[in-house]
Amino acid sequence: MITVRPMQAADIEGVIALQKRAFPKMPPWTRRQLRLHLEHFPEGQLVALDRTGRVVGSASSLIIDWDPSEQLASWSRITGNGTFKTHDPVRGRTLYGADIGVHPDSRGMGVGAALYQARRQLVVRFNLRRIVAGGRIPGYAEVADAMDAETYIQEVAKGRLKDTVLGFQLAQGFRVRGVIPGYLPCDKASCGYATLIEWINPAYHGALGRPAA
Ligand SMILES: CC(C)(COP(=O)(O)OP(=O)(O)OC[C@H]1O[C@@H](n2cnc3c(N)ncnc32)[C@H](O)[C@@H]1OP(=O)(O)O)[C@@H](O)C(=O)NCCC(=O)NCCS
Repeated sequence: MITVRPMQAADIEGVIALQKRAFPKMPPWTRRQLRLHLEHFPEGQLVALDRTGRVVGSASSLIIDWDPSEQLASWSRITGNGTFKTHDPVRGRTLYGADIGVHPDSRGMGVGAALYQARRQLVVRFNLRRIVAGGRIPGYAEVADAMDAETYIQEVAKGRLKDTVLGFQLAQGFRVRGVIPGYLPCDKASCGYATLIEWINPAYHGALGRPAA
């Protein structure tokens, strides 16, 4: 049984341990960053716990003021270098998924789906227009000699190639709006690329006196 709930300060060590396993080739969140996430937007930081109380998944989010006609900036710019000081609940209508990770031993068992369900509930609760994220494409480096990133994404979307992250996100109802080069340079498996993915909240009803974004 998996429980998803907002992260608490007591979960910080568990989240860092999880991150090291979920993203082995990338630097994990620091304690300071995780504390700042809780300060800026506690409701947006989610953890998934197994029946023993171990953190087996986490998803970090912030609200951003994003114009959908524009390209998404880099991960580090959007997240304020991972601090979430860029969180903007006043003007923002977009939940930005800064990361989602599941422990390798717990993958394929619905943990990621449960975290995304909680994220969608968050979007409905805060009456946000959408979720966007820069999705990793960790299967790309293996075939990068043979095709460009756009072709790779199309092949995954058509089911002709498999990608552990993009496949999951498509199964979660996201659509790919574009490809972002240089999004996360330390992500060698994705050759630094990301997909600009979006999920639209069907329950969004705008804000009084303000047009829907
Ligand atoms: C991406 C990730 C979070 C998925 O988590 P997960 O717990 O394994 O995913 P789930 O078991 O909840 O899968 C949910 C659904 O997606 C489907 N799915 C999962 N991976 C898939 C894939 N590669 N291709 C197609 N469908 C996939 C599952 O079949 C399931 O569908 P169902 O509900 O109809 O059965 C996990 O693989 C991970 O942590 N990866 C490494 C970290 C990472 O790169 N995160 C993404 C940052 S952008």
